Order: sequence, then structure tokens, then C-alpha cells
Amino acid sequence: MKNRWIFAVVLTFLGFFGLQRGLAAEKPKMSEIDREKYIREFRRTGLNTTPGDAMMLRILVESAKCKRGVEVGSATGYGAMNMGIAFERNGGQLITVDIDPEMVRKTRENLAKMGLEKTVSVVEGDALQVLPKLEGEFDFVFLDALKRDYLKYFQMLSPKLKKGAVIVADNVIQSAGEMRDFLAFFENNPDYDSVTIRASMEKNDGMLIAYKLK
Ligand SMILES: C[S@@+](CC[C@H](N)C(=O)[O-])C[C@H]1O[C@@H](n2cnc3c(N)ncnc32)[C@H](O)[C@@H]1O
Repeated sequence: MKNRWIFAVVLTFLGFFGLQRGLAAEKPKMSEIDREKYIREFRRTGLNTTPGDAMMLRILVESAKCKRGVEVGSATGYGAMNMGIAFERNGGQLITVDIDPEMVRKTRENLAKMGLEKTVSVVEGDALQVLPKLEGEFDFVFLDALKRDYLKYFQMLSPKLKKGAVIVADNVIQSAGEMRDFLAFFENNPDYDSVTIRASMEKNDGMLIAYKLK
């Protein structure tokens, strides 16, 4: 009888502490409302995409039901947070790459605050080294690092792009001179539908959106 009591007390203690640890490990996820507030009040730097462009990216990921994306150039994660919300809704994943360790740190911190760290992984390194090593297929690409290297980034990802993939490239108006080869590639290319859009007036710039037909 005494042994039974000891056994019951030990079980109760184990259960109590187990529950406490479980609760502590389960980080509360930011609510949708809090996430939108965090994004609205986010202190953007000059490097970040504009709110209009970031929302455009989010809508593209959502509407095309993209499942696996790569962003080239994270800065502090403003675009990644917006796209991350869409990838999470789609049950997908985003990889964002940045060469600058401080940018990587800030992006990770911001994604963690949003509870998006499981959906978006941040890779530190030169995209020219990282992109060829990425495994598997992608259905979404956002190019936003060195403008003169857009064609190189694209060529590294191109064999991994699924039919129906969406490719977005930022700053194609203001930095057109630095990416002539990239823009020429999409002009009258029978394998891609493409268009330049301006989703925001903030930087007087635009994004190229391409759709892989075959
Ligand atoms: C315009 S910002 C990106 C903005 C970001 N996409 C957003 O939505 O806020 C460009 C970023 O590209 C990064 N970058 C520049 N050269 C790079 C390279 N070779 N590989 C990876 N990232 C690079 C810079 O460190 C910078 O953070």
C-alpha cells in the first residue's frame, strides 16, 4: 500500500514538471493581428523592399500556391517575413540567402519574433556559392541582391525551376543598366511570360515578374 502511494506521488511530480517543461518549450505563436502590426510598424532600412512590393510578393506566393521559394538578398527580412506568411499558409518553405552576417542575424531575429523560423530558413553566404548547392526544385524565386549578377543567380536556379514557377526580380527600372543581360533574356523568350510592374511608388522602381511556361 505504502509503495503504491510513493508511486502515485512520484507520477504526479513527473507529470507536473513534464507539463511545465512542455508549456515552456511551446513558444506562443504571434497572432495574425500582431504579425500584421509588427510588419506595419517594422523599421525598414533603405535596403528593404517597399510595403507595396512586399505585399505583391506575398500575393504572388499565395495566389500561385507556391511551395518552395528562394530569396536572393534578405537584408533585415522584410520581404522574407511577408513571403513567409504566404508560404506558411501554403504549407511551403522559403530559403533566404544573404552574404552579410549582420543582415543574417537580424533576419533570423525578425523571423523568430514573427514565429516564422520554421517556414523560412536563412542561409549565410555569397549567393553565387550558395545557389548551386541548393537541392531540390523551386516554384518561386525573388532576386534582390547584386543587380549585375541577376542573370548569374537566375542561371544557377534555372535547372531547379518547376514548370509554372514564378520569378520576381526587384529594381528592374532604376537598375536596368546593370542588368541588361538579365532583362534581354526574358524579352520575347518563348519559355516565359513576363511583365514589369510597379506595385509601389515609393522608390520609383519596378519588379519583373516572369512565369515559366515549360
Ligand atoms: C536590396 S537588399 C535585399 C532586400 C530584401 N529582399 C527585402 O525584401 O527587404 C540586398 C541584400 O543583398 C545582399 N547581398 C549582396 N550581395 C550578395 C551576394 N553576393 N550574395 C548574397 N547576398 C548578397 C546584401 O547584403 C543586402 O542585404
